[in-house]
Formats: sequence, structure tokens, C-alpha cells
Amino acid sequence: MHYRPLGRTGWQVSDISLGAWAIGSAWGHVSDKDSLEALNKAIDCGVNFIDTADVYGDGRSERLIAQLKKQRKEQIIVATKAGRRLPKQTEAGYSRENLTMWIEDSLRNLATDSLDLLQLHCPPTSLYEHSEVFGILDDLVKAGKIRYYGVSVEKVEEALRAIQHRNVETVQIIFNCFRQRPADTFFAEAKRRQVGILARVPLASGLLTGKFSLHSTFPVDDHRNFNRHGEAFDVGETFSGVDYKTGLEGVEELRQLVPHGISMSQFALRWILMFDAVTCAIPGGKRPEQVADNCRASDLPPVTDEGMAAARRIYDQKISPLIGNRW
Ligand SMILES: NC(=O)c1ccc[n+]([C@@H]2O[C@H](COP(=O)([O-])OP(=O)(O)OC[C@H]3O[C@@H](n4cnc5c(N)ncnc54)[C@H](OP(=O)(O)O)[C@@H]3O)[C@@H](O)[C@H]2O)c1
Repeated sequence: MHYRPLGRTGWQVSDISLGAWAIGSAWGHVSDKDSLEALNKAIDCGVNFIDTADVYGDGRSERLIAQLKKQRKEQIIVATKAGRRLPKQTEAGYSRENLTMWIEDSLRNLATDSLDLLQLHCPPTSLYEHSEVFGILDDLVKAGKIRYYGVSVEKVEEALRAIQHRNVETVQIIFNCFRQRPADTFFAEAKRRQVGILARVPLASGLLTGKFSLHSTFPVDDHRNFNRHGEAFDVGETFSGVDYKTGLEGVEELRQLVPHGISMSQFALRWILMFDAVTCAIPGGKRPEQVADNCRASDLPPVTDEGMAAARRIYDQKISPLIGNRW
């Protein structure tokens, strides 16, 4: 496992880290036993950074991470999020009272006195125009409730606005072979400001593992079933917002680029690590085998220039015309 600096925090985090949404909710049934095994496997593989949120299973994901921390002596840095408990996303909802309440809940769930990294969970675009909320977060840092804060965004434009606020340490954004726009429009500025970048949905919700077909089915409580068209939340979070059939065609073209002896998931993750502005990818994993497979990407040789150019061509020809500049 290799490690990269997380913005200006002083922390060095594993370039393949772990996303803990699937062990909370919205991905079909995942047992606590499997979840804890997956979490432990991540630490065995050298992962030292885990992304979660208060709403993943209403605190379930956070509580599992607290259990993991009790079981392990290694340093584990936990990034959580706040804001999605609001019934409707409004600027006013990000009040001092609400933020304090959500943070207290996460502190309890994670069994800690101070959150390592708190991210605003895809707040409305207009929030970035107002500095009050960042002042509130600065106060919460001073009060010792959080160590650092960052944002999770849907759109590149939000990312660019967010990093104008000088204490925003990290930006979490969808970045993968099917979502290349952040590299064109955001990474250089983030790097210049030394802001950490967490590449989320790195496997396009599993599409980029290459295991799906037109006949694949998903449980009713899996967002790949119930959010295909953005019925519950932004469609970009499901298969990266790429139409399933087109996504499968793109995967078949990408498959030709995967070197012998490595999995398609590993190729997709190693592709992300080719961008030095990225701090880490945070693939989700429900079982230890998935986590171990993904972690191996950290130690693979770089993707060749030809591989990078071909992946870009597939994106330009097949995916970009479909999703445009939406995110
Ligand atoms: N708004 C936000 O802030 C936001 C939104 C989305 C995600 N996130 C964060 O980003 C993290 C990662 O994104 P994600 O979990 O949505 O999607 P992802 O990482 O692209 O896909 C994860 C899923 O792919 C499958 N998978 C993973 N590794 C595999 C392997 N090696 N072989 C076969 N299948 C594999 C698993 O599901 P199956 O086995 O069921 O296929 C797993 O749950 C989340 O966990 C969360 O922490 C944040």
C-alpha cells in the first residue's frame, strides 16, 4: 500500500482507502459480520482512511467503524459527513444548531471526542456563496468537536467554489474512467491550493468491475435498482449517472485495456491513481475478498501511456457525449 498526503492536514493516507456506504444501507442486505470482516481486511491491507456518513444506515456504518477501532490498534482516520438528515436540502438547514446536533450524533456513533474529518454532504450549490457555514465549522474546530472539515460535491463547479473557502481541506467528488471531467477542470486548482481529493464511486457502483451484464438484477433495497433514474437522490451517484446499457458497452471496450493478470477493478482503480492531484480512491467493499482485490491496485505498475490514451478515447467517444458537463 502507498500513502499520499491528505491536503494540509499532515496525515498520510492510503491511496486505496475504503468507502463505507454499502455496509450501512442502500446496497441490499449486508450482514454486520461480513462488514466487520471487510473492514478488518482493509486494515490488514494497509488502509488507514475510511469514508462514511451519518445517514449510512442511520449511524450503522459509523457504529461498525467504532467497533473496528476498538478491535484494532492501528491509526484509522475516519471521514464522516453531515447534512443529509435534512428532509429537503436548503441553505438554511445548515444552521449552527443542526450542524452541532448532527456532529454530536456522529461523535456518539463513532465513540470519539473529536471527528477527524467532517464533510458537508452534497449541500445545495448556493451554500458556497455564503461564508457563514464555514465560520460555524471553524468554531466547531476551535471547540475541538472536529479536527478538519471538507465537502462532498456533485458538480465540478461546486468543488471550485468550495475551495475558495480557505479551511476546506478536502473535496470528495466522483472520479473514475466514466467521469473524467474533474481532471480537466478541477484538479490543477485543488493541487495549487493543496486541497485533498477523495475519488468516490471509483468503480461506478460496480460497473467498472466488469462483472455486470444486461441480465444482472439488484435487490429492491439496492440503489442500483431503486435509483436508476434518480428517483431517490442524484442519479450521478448510481452507475456514475451513465445509462446502464451504454455503461456496459464502455466496460467491454475498457476490458481490452486490462493487462493480463490483473482484475478490471484493479485497472479502474490504478487508472485513478495515475492522477497525482488525487489523494485516494475510496472504493466500497462488502466482503473481505472485494476489499483485498481493490487494495492490490495500490502496488500495481502505472497504466501505460497507450492505456491512458485509450481510456480517454473511450470516455470522449462513448460517455462524455451522454453526460456532457452535467457534473
Ligand atoms: N454523496 C456522497 O458523498 C457519496 C455518494 C456515493 C458514495 N460515496 C462514498 O464513496 C464510496 C465509494 O462509492 P460507492 O460505494 O458508491 O461505489 P463504488 O466504490 O464505485 O462501488 C462499490 C461496489 O462495487 C462492488 N465491488 C467493489 N469492489 C469489488 C470487487 N473488487 N469486485 C467485485 N465487485 C466489487 C460492491 O458491490 P456489489 O458486490 O453489490 O456489486 C461495492 O459495494 C462510498 O462507499 C461512500 O463512502 C459518497
